[in-house]
Amino acid sequence: MISFNMVTKIYPHNIISLRDITVNIEKGEFVFLIGPTGSGKTTFLRLIYREIKPTRGSVYVMGENLAKMKERKIPFLRRQIGFVFQDFKLLPYKTVYENIAFALEVIGYNPAEINARVNEILERVGLSHRKDLLPYQLSGGERQRVAIARALVNDPPILLADEPTGNLDFEAAKNILDLLVEANLHGTTVLVATHNREIVNSLRKRVIALKDGVLVRDDKEGTYDAQA
Ligand SMILES: Nc1ncnc2c1ncn2[C@@H]1O[C@H](COP(=O)(O)OP(=O)(O)OP(=O)(O)O)[C@@H](O)[C@H]1O
Ligand SMILES: [Mg+2]
Repeated sequence: MISFNMVTKIYPHNIISLRDITVNIEKGEFVFLIGPTGSGKTTFLRLIYREIKPTRGSVYVMGENLAKMKERKIPFLRRQIGFVFQDFKLLPYKTVYENIAFALEVIGYNPAEINARVNEILERVGLSHRKDLLPYQLSGGERQRVAIARALVNDPPILLADEPTGNLDFEAAKNILDLLVEANLHGTTVLVATHNREIVNSLRKRVIALKDGVLVRDDKEGTYDAQA
């Protein structure tokens, strides 16, 4: 599904954010991407979304080499990937409903289908009663759920979530993760970048750890800290 082969990413000013990363993520996996701040987690996700290209090495997503992908094919790639951004990127002047519907409008769904899908996903994430509010009127956890609803509304085969539980207490974070686990049970391949030790430890999923851009650990039913 996702494959990195000796991927190095160097940003301007010679900032090396990933070094020689080789890793495969299979269809249907649930993976935590962990590591201290600045270790390269967001960079890893942005490479999969083709927001950026590797400096060296190759990234394959669903069989396509992203470095060779034509610009005009990028929207098709992104339609296959739900992305929950670290800063949510909700549109401030659109309601909860409109923020989610917009994701479907831009890819050409018809109004009846948009209405059905948005209402269904709002139900699933428990936000039906908030659908006419603007983002600033929501709590942090609610905003996070809107971002997840928007990423999942077109049933993408891949879901990338960048720190989807930042600043939430354990209960709220667990509720968010339950949504991602449920999507995974329906077949979505899920990759979650996080600092949330309790969540990682409670779920025992595959854990890929980065440190200074280097892949330092890849454990099957892993924990946040390396086992002694
Ligand atoms: N656009 C950019 N230009 C230059 N350097 C960048 C850019 N984006 C990220 N970096 C650098 O790359 C390194 C990795 O950043 P990245 O955002 O991937 O880390 P992260 O693991 O997601 O951190 P955090 O946990 O704080 O979100 C950092 O040293 C950062 O300063
Ligand atoms: Mg980050």
